[in-house]
Amino acid sequence: MRFDIITVLPALLESPFAHSILQRAQKKGIAEIFVHNLRDYATNKQKSVDDYQYGGGSGMVMSIEPFAACIEKLKAERDYDEIIFMSPDGVTLNQSTANELSIKKNIIILCGHYKGIDQRIRDIFVTREVSIGDYVLSGGELPAAIVVDAVVRLIPGVLNDETSALSDSFQGELLDAPVYTRPADWRGHKVPDVLLSGHEAKVNEWRHEQALERTQKRRPDLLE
Ligand code: ADE
Repeated sequence: MRFDIITVLPALLESPFAHSILQRAQKKGIAEIFVHNLRDYATNKQKSVDDYQYGGGSGMVMSIEPFAACIEKLKAERDYDEIIFMSPDGVTLNQSTANELSIKKNIIILCGHYKGIDQRIRDIFVTREVSIGDYVLSGGELPAAIVVDAVVRLIPGVLNDETSALSDSFQGELLDAPVYTRPADWRGHKVPDVLLSGHEAKVNEWRHEQALERTQKRRPDLLE
């Protein structure tokens, strides 16, 4: 799977993909992540990528030409399944969207800034707008990194223990049960006996009960 992320702040995306599972996915050749500097596609002498808003109002708007030039260059090289615009106006990301995206081959992600991007980019090129929640961030870079992380870990072969993505919170309809590691007793705070019992069926039953209880308490909406 290939991601092409278009941004004015490529430096913000240097680190998120260089560690842990995302790094491993790239080393294994399962995921490729390319970051493109929008400024390299600016057409004017000043290399500007934004301009004043028609109709007046504060805040600059990102122009269509640099985005169009970058998208058209990429599209001439391969077909893309999706062009995603990260925006608080989009559909809120959830596990089912991540699953849907994880079976695509090539995805472009556009990161916005300032007051927004020229509506024509959204109308002409964008196939899907994705929000990571009801709050406004300074740009689409961190949201883009979140989408890539949520999606890449679902691609078969990325996680060592393939069952572990399947048992994630939200992958079923329940949150995860609590987990513990050594020591079994820390200053009198003990790990539940059942987990030390070695009785697999009982452990599974306990985990299911705990997951259900946690979901009922914290996210009853998931059970509706
Ligand atoms: N850009 C700014 N805020 C955002 C959000 N909440 N989700 C996606 N992109 C954004």
